[in-house]
Amino acid sequence: MAIATAFSLKLQILFIIFCCRSYFSTAFTSQDYADALEMSILFFEGQRSGKLPSNQRLTWRGDSGLSDGSAYHVNLVGGYYDAGDNVKFGLPMAFTTTLLAWSVIEFGSSMQNQITNAKAAIRWSTDYLLKAATATPDTLYVQVGDPNMDHRCWERPEDMDTPRNVYKVTIQNPGSDVAAETAAALAAASIVFKESDTSYSTELLHAAMKVFDFADRYRGSYSDSLNSAVCPFYCSYSGYQDELLWGASWLHKASLNGTYLAYIQSNGHTMGSEDDDYSFSWDDKRPGTKILLSKEFLEKTTEEFQLYKSHSDNYICSLIPGTPSFQAQYTPGGLFYKATESNLQYVTSTTFLLLTYAKYLGSNGGVAKCGGSTVTAESLIAQAKKQVDYILGDNPAKMSYMVGFGNKYPQHVHHRGSSVPSIHAHPNRISCNDGFQYLYSSSPNPNVLVGAIVGGPDNRDHFADDRNSYQQSEPATYINAPFVGALAFFSAKN
Ligand SMILES: *[C@@H]1O[C@H](CO)[C@@H](O)[C@H](O)[C@H]1NC(C)=O
Repeated sequence: MAIATAFSLKLQILFIIFCCRSYFSTAFTSQDYADALEMSILFFEGQRSGKLPSNQRLTWRGDSGLSDGSAYHVNLVGGYYDAGDNVKFGLPMAFTTTLLAWSVIEFGSSMQNQITNAKAAIRWSTDYLLKAATATPDTLYVQVGDPNMDHRCWERPEDMDTPRNVYKVTIQNPGSDVAAETAAALAAASIVFKESDTSYSTELLHAAMKVFDFADRYRGSYSDSLNSAVCPFYCSYSGYQDELLWGASWLHKASLNGTYLAYIQSNGHTMGSEDDDYSFSWDDKRPGTKILLSKEFLEKTTEEFQLYKSHSDNYICSLIPGTPSFQAQYTPGGLFYKATESNLQYVTSTTFLLLTYAKYLGSNGGVAKCGGSTVTAESLIAQAKKQVDYILGDNPAKMSYMVGFGNKYPQHVHHRGSSVPSIHAHPNRISCNDGFQYLYSSSPNPNVLVGAIVGGPDNRDHFADDRNSYQQSEPATYINAPFVGALAFFSAKN
């Protein structure tokens, strides 16, 4: 009897261990997600241009670009370098800002002590975008730095001596794509600061309205106006219609001014509202716009927005294996796969949309309709979690693609500032050509760009930790921005 009881107790314990470990199996704890969240925001400090504040935490960086704009009699100090180089590209910077702000709008209540850092990361950009948008009437400054010259050097931002050319869009040389994205960023950020800094929020909203009006009134793509300064780097391949609708949608949300609702209603069909398109990135805003506007239908049953719900469903269904309209590609290890270059940007932006849509659906008991079947908010969250966990290290290579997170992460990040010794360790200038020894060196980067998510593995889950392979080893601000929201969401789950 005693033996039998002990035996069954043992069985029960074993059962509990096996059942519940596999059933509740999770590679990471909420504390892990909270740690990753902190790092994902810290990364933006490594991308800062301008005069660094005394509370700068990535201390291997120093001041840079302190005279940006001065040769053109405009103050364009500040903002972010987009990736591993030292150019300030306006289109990806604005998109990064919109997505950081959207992360805070949806998931800021789960950020706990990181909310202050998240707002500081947004403000670092909006301070710059405000200057770029308001310095000169009917002009938006959209870039500092000649990308071709910059890419010919491997220099720390603190040592930069390449031409800091300033590029702008104007009435004669319009750029509705970059201008409308800038409007989206300023409008989204105005929502973030609405309560904590009302006057800043109002300033952002007014600037957003003006720059949107400029984008809409003088139509054209900045790729045509600026050609080789922005192409092929951040060429607007999708044109500017998608940004006009995206910008109007953010202004509608931020201002509640009926002008933007009317604009969306009368222009949506010519600006992509009826296209099914499955790529959300710094270039193409269509899936994001649909998800954003679907909220109007889900929460307020605004009839005119029903089409945004059905096209959001089409987009979401395309990502979910087993549904009739499934058409995404996943690696054998389960990573969403879209492109050979900087694939993780699509993973993080898609993950963010899955979680945001799950939130909108969940608050209404709604489901995504995929042909004859339905997909619940819970399955969208499960799909998003797989992607987040993969990035953090639950993958065939057993490595994290976020620098500084976990035991194994990329050591040879394609990033000038991170790979060249810090100005504090090596104060003497390291010139344009002398820097290349650090690009080609097999040593790990001396400065850890904490929180950076790199381009990521190939379609067979293979990752070459090689500084020269920028397609896989380069970080970018727009890879991290939507991940901030996703990590906040999972950090608040038990
Ligand atoms: C609404 O937006 C339009 C267009 O920007 C502007 O002219 C108008 O003054 C705004 N109305 C209010 C009440 O802010």
